[in-house]
Amino acid sequence: MKSTKDFVKMKNEGKKIVMVTAYDYPSAKQAEQAEVDMILVGDSLGNVVLGYDSTIYVTMEDMIHHAKAVKRGAGNTFVVVDMPFMSCHLSIRDTLINGARILQETGAQAVKIEGADEVLPHIEALVKAGIPVMSHLGLTPQSAAVLGGYKVQGKDAEAAKKIVEDAKCCQEAGAYAITLECIPKQLAQEITSSVEIPTIGIGAGVQTDGQVLVYHDILTYGVERVSKFVKPYANVNEPMINALKAYAAEVRNEIFPDDQHSFTMKEEELKTLYG
Ligand code: KIV
Ligand code: NA
Repeated sequence: MKSTKDFVKMKNEGKKIVMVTAYDYPSAKQAEQAEVDMILVGDSLGNVVLGYDSTIYVTMEDMIHHAKAVKRGAGNTFVVVDMPFMSCHLSIRDTLINGARILQETGAQAVKIEGADEVLPHIEALVKAGIPVMSHLGLTPQSAAVLGGYKVQGKDAEAAKKIVEDAKCCQEAGAYAITLECIPKQLAQEITSSVEIPTIGIGAGVQTDGQVLVYHDILTYGVERVSKFVKPYANVNEPMINALKAYAAEVRNEIFPDDQHSFTMKEEELKTLYG
């Protein structure tokens, strides 16, 4: 399994870091078989798995429940778990309890926290306690209501400067990497060269040190609409629905189960049973 040190080394050697989300045993197993460098148990769980329209409904219990399954499927891959809405904003003590629960109860390697400013002391406390933290800047879905929706961030010079400063502060607080979501590619490049820790982009262009995408978006699995920055590499929706339809039709027409999929009794046993 790679370590936080390996990710810095990859940045320095110009080797791209591949990250994908996973939410359960099969998706984690597939991600590990695909030899990704890092798996994120994202709170996008709320959208793509639990059917909410926002990540703010995702709880600590949800994250732990799913992260445990991910770790069972990907025991040899570095797993990062999102700290859900408001789980690192109350007291430092609450943050430490939540961070420790995620690592101890799931076996994950790190946590991810959205934002800078008010969460910086929390990042610092977690890292000092031995819990690796990945930061997440740009579009931070947990604060979409304050940002005014899901929009590209840092488009004007003032906003861009603030994100560069935030990235430096996150590094200073001890973050081992930074996710950059939905920002202009030029800004992502500037941040990437301004910090020593790796940047992982999603909708942030090709110049970041790595990329992350949501499992369901890559596969077009259960999702209807995807963002501009998503490239679907397969459409598993169609074959899956077709398989379910074929099953339904065969049940209705008594084609399934046929003899090949049924158990049977020996003739003599039948005679003993019914005479
Ligand atoms: O929850 C998530 O999937 C994420 C990625 C989009 C970075 O935070
Ligand atoms: Na997230």
